[in-house]
Amino acid sequence: MTRIFNFGAGPGTLPTEVLQQIRDELLDWHGLGVSIMEISHRSPEFEEVAAIAEQDLRDLLNIPSHYKVLFLQGGGRGQFSMVPLNLLGANKTADYFNTGFWSKYAIEEARKYGEVNVVADTEATKYRTIPVPNTWHCNPQAAYLHFTSNETINGVEFQSPPNVGNVPLVADMSSNILSRPIDVSQYGLIYASAQKNIGPAGLVVVIVREDLLGKASPLTPSIGDYKIQADFRSLYNTPPTFAWYIAGLVFKWLKRQGGIAAIAEINRRKAEKLYHFIDAHDFYHNPVDPNYRSWMNVIFNLADETCNPVFLTQAKAAGLIALKGHKLLGGMRASIYNAMPEQGVDALIAFMTEFAKKNS
Ligand SMILES: Cc1ncc(COP(=O)(O)O)c(C=O)c1O
Repeated sequence: MTRIFNFGAGPGTLPTEVLQQIRDELLDWHGLGVSIMEISHRSPEFEEVAAIAEQDLRDLLNIPSHYKVLFLQGGGRGQFSMVPLNLLGANKTADYFNTGFWSKYAIEEARKYGEVNVVADTEATKYRTIPVPNTWHCNPQAAYLHFTSNETINGVEFQSPPNVGNVPLVADMSSNILSRPIDVSQYGLIYASAQKNIGPAGLVVVIVREDLLGKASPLTPSIGDYKIQADFRSLYNTPPTFAWYIAGLVFKWLKRQGGIAAIAEINRRKAEKLYHFIDAHDFYHNPVDPNYRSWMNVIFNLADETCNPVFLTQAKAAGLIALKGHKLLGGMRASIYNAMPEQGVDALIAFMTEFAKKNS
């Protein structure tokens, strides 16, 4: 078996151990004679899988008991609609940071349902930093304040959540959930599509403070109504059972790695060594403000952009795939999520060293 290093931004690499376990359990899950994806979501077996996954996530993130954890469908973009539909209430106005392409998409979607006040906007400067707090224009009456904790395309990451008093904080953590410790009690709601640090695509996890439930617009689709889904323990409709099961295996894997503090230490090391290498070589360049560089998505450009195709071809031949930057930005991007081993980053640096020598 040859596993190469997959730097794709999502769906991203999964832990090999988890894939092996899925393979071993696929035809006959725990002596049942069928796979986990072939049984009812209401069976005691699946209910147990679901409950254990939820508990493991609660343990990993220290989620307080007055928060509900939902396992839903529709990915991150689904939540771009569900957040305003569920939380705007009579207020009809919400605050949003515009710090990258994913923030921008979230804002565009929210504008269908209410008024959006943009608190801070870095689009004009190509989304390379996070503005300092004394430049923010917050509305104390806003129903919530939305921010994208890690901008997957632009490689910009909030290093701590914005502190905004009593307005509930809503975070799109699609590309950095579980990558470092967070204090869930600082948030009103957290959502994350699964296909980066949680598991396969098809699942989105929502962590929501109980007092925010029950305010959904009457037009909210029932499958996206947090109160209904909380009352049904996310089993109102048939959930993506296989993805939920795999998320559970990833949570167990994370616990075996020592939990979030331990994985964060590895993530910090991986990111630091890659940025350090890029900064030390004129052949490579990262344009992001060093104070807000993402630990998960490292973007970089080659000094000679005409080398891009050959860089990608030779990287692939060296067992390093999916390094092409997002089409909106060009250049390169190395996504180094939890499941990317440190050896993958070392192999990338070794390849980039040789490539720069040959092409400088
Ligand atoms: C930060 C962020 N938010 C939202 C999304 C959209 O997620 P989905 O494709 O699951 O709708 C992505 C996808 O990459 C993302 O990186």
